[in-house]
Amino acid sequence: MLDSLDAVLEEQIKDLYSAENQLAKALPKMAIAASTETLKAAFKSHLAETKVQIERLQKIAEILEIKPGGKKCKGMEGLLEEGKEAMEENGEEVFVDAAIIAAAQRVEHYEISGYGTARAIAEAVGNTKVVQLLQMTLDEEVAADEKLTQISTSEILNAGSQSGGRNSQRSEKNGQRSDKTGSRSDKRDQHGDKEKSASGSRSRGSSRASSTSPR
Ligand SMILES: [Fe+2]
Repeated sequence: MLDSLDAVLEEQIKDLYSAENQLAKALPKMAIAASTETLKAAFKSHLAETKVQIERLQKIAEILEIKPGGKKCKGMEGLLEEGKEAMEENGEEVFVDAAIIAAAQRVEHYEISGYGTARAIAEAVGNTKVVQLLQMTLDEEVAADEKLTQISTSEILNAGSQSGGRNSQRSEKNGQRSDKTGSRSDKRDQHGDKEKSASGSRSRGSSRASSTSPR
């Protein structure tokens, strides 16, 4: 029964615990499905982070004197189901990667929302230690999301538009580049040149918005 904010916090922690455990099972599959080493590495490093985040939730459960298990996060289940659909798509690697990143960023934003809310409730009930632990994870989720935005804008969207995306005219503004397999630093430089473009600033703006909203 939800008869106090403490009870709401308990529900939120259980939900996050379920969400993280589901994600920990999915991330190795996402690393296998990703076609570039950068994206594979991002999923592997987030798996390592996720394992620490699960331990952090166990620590929080100890502090709150609750059991973290026994709840299924249906939101995460649905998001991971969509991620699975993206991974099973046929098509050019770069487009499948774009679809996998899209699914992964929905997961990250969902987690950012969940941790932001839990942190706010922990603050409201005055549990400073729990606030700190939740904030640590929240910061990691925001960084993971920003990393995906960076991979997406520097490698995937650029390469995708070169290989026949409907927005391929956008890349022409920055000069023709036919070599899709050019070095990553070249792509990053080109993206750097693009930074003032509408698409570049929009994507960074949205990731910044998500990083500040939960605080
Ligand atoms: Fe997480």
